[in-house]
Amino acid sequence: MKIAVMTSGGDAPGMNAGVRAVVKKAIFHKLDVFGIYRGFEGLMEDDVRQLELKDVGSIIHRGGTVLYSARSERFKTEEGQARAVDVLKKHGIEGLVVIGGDGSYRGAQKLHEHGIKTIGLPGTIDNDIRGTDYTLGFDTAMNTVIKAIDNIRDTATSHERTYVIEVMGRDAGDIAASCGLGGGAESIIIPEVEESRDDMIKRIQEGFQRGKKHSIIITAEGAGSGDEIGKYIKEKTDFDTRVTILGHVQRGGSPSSFDRILGSRLGARAVELLMEGESGKALGLESNRISVHDFDYVVEEKEDDNIKELYKLAIELSI
Ligand code: F6P
Repeated sequence: MKIAVMTSGGDAPGMNAGVRAVVKKAIFHKLDVFGIYRGFEGLMEDDVRQLELKDVGSIIHRGGTVLYSARSERFKTEEGQARAVDVLKKHGIEGLVVIGGDGSYRGAQKLHEHGIKTIGLPGTIDNDIRGTDYTLGFDTAMNTVIKAIDNIRDTATSHERTYVIEVMGRDAGDIAASCGLGGGAESIIIPEVEESRDDMIKRIQEGFQRGKKHSIIITAEGAGSGDEIGKYIKEKTDFDTRVTILGHVQRGGSPSSFDRILGSRLGARAVELLMEGESGKALGLESNRISVHDFDYVVEEKEDDNIKELYKLAIELSI
């Protein structure tokens, strides 16, 4: 059997561990395994190469993805999908592992509908995929953000300032809520919870009245930009306010042990499922077990109860 692996969408630490596991597990079971470079865009351009063990040597600790990644508009067309199927058939590839976020899952689902056996692994720092407690890269990104919050807190304390820190999360507040809780933020702004800007100001002011010398506010990019929130605070208060946008710093860096282990488990299980003839499935981690769901299930919007709980706790503990 010939199978392939690709990474797609925004890169995430731990993707390399996933690629490595797919390649090693496939070779262990005497399958031929191919790498598709630059995601769906590269697939349509036949940027495909057979991989050997040496291609995945010493990559488990590296951030980014050795297969490169891309976001593809062309693949969304019937023509693009037909081209991708032709390329896979030309190489005799029967099964494909796609590591990426929800956009990549939609692409993988299309290939499944065209008769290619496809398995998806959740790879995005946003943690916004249904059917998994953690996506690959989220843990590493959280560690990066928490370290940044700690550093900013030092200088915020010295200068008795208010700091707004903008973190990633286009449509999801997972990074902001988790790091707000873990970083001891005074206020968190996320798309899942509506809180008026005035309530936020009121809470920061109350903190100052109680003797707090500085404040840290974490905002998810999808809920309000750091600049916008910073401007609002400056307009409404006389707090000395600064804004930090963490940006793509959050996407890089050596994966945490958690992401390396998760990538390894997911990648290996994906190969087993392809060998069992499965297709149209997305893997996840639920209650520390690798779980399997249909693509139809995971591309639906994720429930936000957990994030609301984290938010509530972070606010309660910020007094
Ligand atoms: O999907 C992951 C993510 O990092 C989002 O948090 C962010 O909004 C987006 O990708 C940025 O994408 P790009 O790197 O294409 O600018």
